[in-house]
Amino acid sequence: MNPQSKIYIAGHRGMVGSAIHRQLLAAGHTPDRIVTRTRAELDLCNQSAVQTFFAAEKPDQVYLAAAKVGGIHANNTFPADFIYQNLMVQANVIEAAFQNGVKKLLFLGSSCIYPRLAPQPMAEAALLTGPLEPKNEPYAIAKIAGIKLCESYNRQYGAIQGVDYRSVMPTNLYGPGDNYHPENSHVIPALIRRFHEAKMSQAPSVAIWGSGRPRREFLYVDDMAAASVFVMNLEKAVFDANTQPMLGHINVGFGEDVTIAELAHAVCKVVGYQGEITFDATKPDGAPRKWMDSQRLNALGWKPRVALEAGLPYAYKDFLDKQL
Ligand SMILES: NC(=O)c1ccc[n+]([C@@H]2O[C@H](COP(=O)([O-])OP(=O)(O)OC[C@H]3O[C@@H](n4cnc5c(N)ncnc54)[C@H](OP(=O)(O)O)[C@@H]3O)[C@@H](O)[C@H]2O)c1
Repeated sequence: MNPQSKIYIAGHRGMVGSAIHRQLLAAGHTPDRIVTRTRAELDLCNQSAVQTFFAAEKPDQVYLAAAKVGGIHANNTFPADFIYQNLMVQANVIEAAFQNGVKKLLFLGSSCIYPRLAPQPMAEAALLTGPLEPKNEPYAIAKIAGIKLCESYNRQYGAIQGVDYRSVMPTNLYGPGDNYHPENSHVIPALIRRFHEAKMSQAPSVAIWGSGRPRREFLYVDDMAAASVFVMNLEKAVFDANTQPMLGHINVGFGEDVTIAELAHAVCKVVGYQGEITFDATKPDGAPRKWMDSQRLNALGWKPRVALEAGLPYAYKDFLDKQL
C-alpha cells in the first residue's frame, strides 16, 4: 500500500466505512490523502454531483462502503428504497471512478446475494444458482449488480486501461458504529438493546423470537476492514489466479458460526443481564444456517483476529456511548 495514494472512502461515517478509515490510518496512510464526503455534502444517488466530485478529486483508489443497509424488517418494508438507492450509488460511483481514471476500487456486497437454499457453507460459486430470499431480494439483486458492474468493467477495460475493480461479500458484521434502532437493526445490536433495556428495567425475562437453534456467523467490523484493505492490496496476479473473470467476488466470514441461543447468552453475559432468556418457538426461525465459505480468502493468507467473546464488549461499549 502506498501511503501517499489518494483514497476515497464512500460511506466513511457508516459502520464499515469508518472501520476502513481507522484501518488505513492505523496502517500508516497519510491522513490528508484520504478523501471523504458526508451525504449532505455529496448524495451518491446524484449522478452529476458524483461525476463532478470525481473530476475534482481524482482519487487513486475507492472503497465503496456506502449503501442503504438494514435488517430483514427494513428490507421488507422499504424494498423500493433498497433496490433503487443501492443500484444508483454503486452505478454512479463505479462509472464516475472509471471515467476519472480510478484503477482500483473495492465494492462491498453482502452474503444475501446467495440463494436462500444455498449449500452450507456458501461458496462464491453458489452465486446465481437458485432463488433468493424474497424478503431481501431487491437488496440482493442490487448487490449482485454491483459485483457484475465490477466484473464487467474489468472484462471490458482491464487489459486496455488497467481497471481492477474487486468485490468482497461480508457475513453479518457487528461492532462500533452499528445501528441500534429498535426495529431496523441487525441481530447483535438488537439483542444488545433488548438485554440492556431489560437490565435497566429489571425485567424478569427476555423472550427471543424463534427456537434459538438457527446458526449464524458474525464478524467484528475491524476484521472486515482489515480484510477489505487486504483484498484491495493483493497483487493482481495473485487475485486473478484465485478468482475468475465472471466469478470475481471474495467471501469474508469468521469461519465459525453459533446458534442464536449461544449468541443470546453471550450478549446477555456481556451486558450483565441477570434475568431469564426464553425462546418463543411459535415465531419463525428463518434459514436453519447461514455460513460463508471463506476458504478463498483464507488461502490467500487472511484470517480474522477478533472472536465473538472479544468483540461483543466493544459493541456494548459503543451502544452505551451512544446513549449518553
Ligand atoms: N452491517 C452489516 O452487518 C453488513 C453485512 C454485510 C455487508 N455489509 C455491507 O457493508 C457496506 C457498509 O455497511 P454498513 O453496515 O457500514 O452500513 P451503514 O453503517 O448504514 O453505512 C452506510 C453509509 O453509506 C452512506 N450512504 C448511504 N446512501 C448514501 C447516499 N445516497 N449518499 C451518500 N452516502 C450514502 C450512509 O450515510 P448516512 O449515514 O448519511 O445515511 C452511511 O454512512 C454495505 O455495502 C453493506 O451492504 C454490511
